[in-house]
Amino acid sequence: MKIAIMGAMPEEIEPLLEYFGEYKIIDYAKNRYYTLDYKGHEIVVAYSKIGKVNATITAVTMIEKFGCEKLLFSGVAGAIHDDLNVGDLIIATKLSQHDLDITAFGHPYGFVPEGAVYEDADRDLIDIAKSVASDKNIPIIETTIATGDQFICNQEKKEWIKNTFDAGALEMEGAAVALACNALEVPFFILRSISDAADMDASFSFDEFLESSAKISAQFIISMVDKIVKIK
Ligand code: ADE
Repeated sequence: MKIAIMGAMPEEIEPLLEYFGEYKIIDYAKNRYYTLDYKGHEIVVAYSKIGKVNATITAVTMIEKFGCEKLLFSGVAGAIHDDLNVGDLIIATKLSQHDLDITAFGHPYGFVPEGAVYEDADRDLIDIAKSVASDKNIPIIETTIATGDQFICNQEKKEWIKNTFDAGALEMEGAAVALACNALEVPFFILRSISDAADMDASFSFDEFLESSAKISAQFIISMVDKIVKIK
């Protein structure tokens, strides 16, 4: 089994590299990939850089060049639901691109012809996450995630995303990873820990909590990998 674990920023993969310890480095397409053996399985770790296009390049590379058969994403997100707090873990059940807009042609937000407004995440990986959460007594929230090439720090915009996509959290890569993985028929899982509330204080909160929230997410992903390699 070859498993991809990706983040968008260095802070999102550093706790993983620290945990796994030994790895080989392969530089490819202006990105660095860390390959390692873990309990008899191959793992490829990388951060994509921020945004949907970068995330797509990395996800596709991990699948097509490195042959990864499952992809786990670990990182941080802005909260939409009021009951989410910094450090809370959320898992995406489905994802949508909130900045995809050809409504001028009568289509809904997030939709292009031959596509869909939402991309579903893999149910088996979600079930594994739920069983890890229950074993460790860690609360996780299943929700829709909205993705766009914008750092959201505005209450009005956040409300619009909430109302348009019924999303519980937002970030800048998930839906792109989802689209790439579903197109290539590779099961994927998106985990995020809350770093901010996507409001006027978001950039300060993000800077303060990026590292700690990214670590919470990465630690959960490691427990998931332990479960995945046990099953396979
Ligand atoms: N990732 C974490 N917080 C975010 C925000 N407020 N907007 C977009 N992506 C984020």
